[in-house]
Formats: sequence, C-alpha cells, structure tokens
Amino acid sequence: MGRIQLKQVKKAFGDVTVIPPLDLEIEDGEFVVFVGPSGCGKSTLLRLIAGLEDTTSGIIEIDGKDATGLPPAKRGLAMVFQSYALYPHMSVRKNIAFPMKMAGLSPEEQNRRIEAAAKALNLTDYLDRRPGQLSGGQRQRVAIGRAIVREPAAFLFDEPLSNLDAALRVGMRLEISELHKRLATTMVYVTHDQVEAMTMADKIVVLQAGVIEQVGSPLELYHSPRNRFVAGFIGSPKMNLIEGPEAAKHNAHTIGIRPEHLTVSTDSGDWHGTVGVSEHLGSDTFFHVKIDGFAEPLTVRVGGDFDLHYGDAIQLTPDPALIHKFDAKGLRIT
Ligand SMILES: Nc1ncnc2c1ncn2[C@@H]1O[C@H](COP(=O)(O)OP(=O)(O)OP(=O)(O)O)[C@@H](O)[C@H]1O
Ligand SMILES: [Mg+2]
Repeated sequence: MGRIQLKQVKKAFGDVTVIPPLDLEIEDGEFVVFVGPSGCGKSTLLRLIAGLEDTTSGIIEIDGKDATGLPPAKRGLAMVFQSYALYPHMSVRKNIAFPMKMAGLSPEEQNRRIEAAAKALNLTDYLDRRPGQLSGGQRQRVAIGRAIVREPAAFLFDEPLSNLDAALRVGMRLEISELHKRLATTMVYVTHDQVEAMTMADKIVVLQAGVIEQVGSPLELYHSPRNRFVAGFIGSPKMNLIEGPEAAKHNAHTIGIRPEHLTVSTDSGDWHGTVGVSEHLGSDTFFHVKIDGFAEPLTVRVGGDFDLHYGDAIQLTPDPALIHKFDAKGLRIT
C-alpha cells in the first residue's frame, strides 16, 4: 500500500514560508511527478513526505494513518537521490544489502531480495563490482536497487537522473517507468524537466513558489492548462503567448497557441511575418517567426524537411479550436 495524503501541510524556515498550506492526494500505485522551476519547493515537499523535514503545520497521512511525527525510518518509504550516495568500498551486493542488514533481515531473505532486485534492474552481472567500476546509469540502478529491497510503500525520487548524460537519461527514464509498471508501487518523483514529467507521470503536480498551480494527467495539463504559468511550463517548445490587440480580438488578455498548432503557408494566412532562426532536429523543425505587429517572435513546429530559410516571408494560421485564452490575472477563460 502507498496512499499519501497531505492536509494543509505548511513549511516555513524561520520567518520565510516556503510552502503555504496545501492539500494533495497521492493514490496507491500512482506515479506522481512534482515539477516546477528551481526553488519552487519540490525537494522540500518530498522531504516533508519522507520525514527528513518537519512540517510547520498540517498533517501527512500514509495509508490512512497519521505519519506527521514519525521519523523517516518508520514511514515505510524509500528515497533515491540525485547523488547516489553509495559506499565506495563495498560491492554492489553489499551496497544493496545494507538497509536489510540494518533492519536485521536473515541472510537468506537478503539474498532473495538482492537477486530479485538485480534481475529487475539488469545488475546481476555487476553484483561483485564496486561502485567505482560502474557507469553513472549503473550506479543509479544500484541506488534504486537499495530502495527496492526495502519493499517500501512508496518510492521517493529527487531528480535521480540529473547527473546522467542525455542519452542515459532517456534510457533510465524508460527503466523507471517500466519498473513502476512491474512493481505497481507508488512513486513520487521530483524533476524540473517537464519532458520527464510528461513522459513518466500518471499525475503531474505543477508547483510555483510553493503553491500548487495545477494537478492533472500530462494530457490534461497539455490540453487545458489552468493558467498562463502552466501553459508556458508544460509543452516543448513552449506555447506561444500573445498579448495586445490580437488577444483582444478573442476577448482575452492573452492568447496561447502551441508551436504545433500553427499552419505554415507562403501565400495565405492570418499572420504575416518573416522567418528567423530555424532549429533542425531531423524529425522536426522549429522556426522562429517575427510576425508584423507582435511584440514577441512565435515558435512554429513543422516536419523535418521543411524548406524555408532565414528572411523568407511566411504566413501563419492558428487552429482556432486550439487557441487558449487567459484573462488579465493569467487564468484560463473557458
Ligand atoms: N534548510 C533551509 N533553510 C532555509 N531555506 C531553505 C532551506 N531549504 C530550502 N530552502 C528554501 O526553500 C525554497 C525551496 O527549496 P527546494 O530545495 O524545495 O526547491 P526545489 O524546487 O527543489 O529547487 P531545485 O529545482 O533547485 O532543486 C528555496 O527558496 C530554498 O532556498
Ligand atoms: Mg530540489
């Protein structure tokens, strides 16, 4: 089991409130991602759940029981950090066994769990190596293995992949998702990378300055961002946000259109402009387009072999059904 409920949980360091009272429900077996810019309180929130920080006020329940005052070891949760924190002088086997040894499990039970974790994480051939003889991705797998053998009610991850290079990150992302499907254990995962959030989460919690801006599935957030902040944060490349007379035509303070929801033409369209820098990714091309009368350039996403060049005249038309509207406070107008 691994249902976690936060009820009016608040955290202040001295006079500074980092997390104003918030409510959050994490269902058993769910993969929940906390995402938001640096300093928004993601790690603090995770550490409150883990018991590594005390709540200033409010209640944290784990599986329906008040866990607010419990020390970390009594909460039945396992945390995996960005820095793997492995013991360099111990073999992989001993590193993974360590928490079980501390908990006084029998050697037979320890071995059974080590073998199972090693199999799940493709570490069977590496059990006798030391951390120094492993790649970054393998080390992170050992750290996850050490969490798995504790058979926790939930896993808590704090940016576990940010030390890895881009290719390895994508690989590990898939491995963690796969692991979640197999174990069906609750996972709470902190990242500032919205692509990680979108690809891994059942439920995303978008935070800004300690406040939950929106909670929803990746596609809910993509299709119906509640406000300008979420609109700009979720989606890559970012949603284009347009203010001024063009927005007023739609009875909005700001309109938003995603780069993939603009049609490009060289002979007709709503918005006339000039092609700026383009970024060729092979599969896609991102154009930056300066539109006459708009304050900011727009980003447009098209296929990989699109033949337009810097300085070319271009016309763009937004899909009217996919225009997002926001009021002066930045809230979605439905
Ligand atoms: N022990 C502390 N004492 C005082 N302030 C703290 C402490 N720990 C964190 N903070 C502050 O709380 C806020 C949230 O920090 P937190 O580490 O939770 O952010 P984060 O979202 O995890 O950021 P990042 O993406 O950079 O890791 C920051 O403004 C930070 O300076
Ligand atoms: Mg952090």
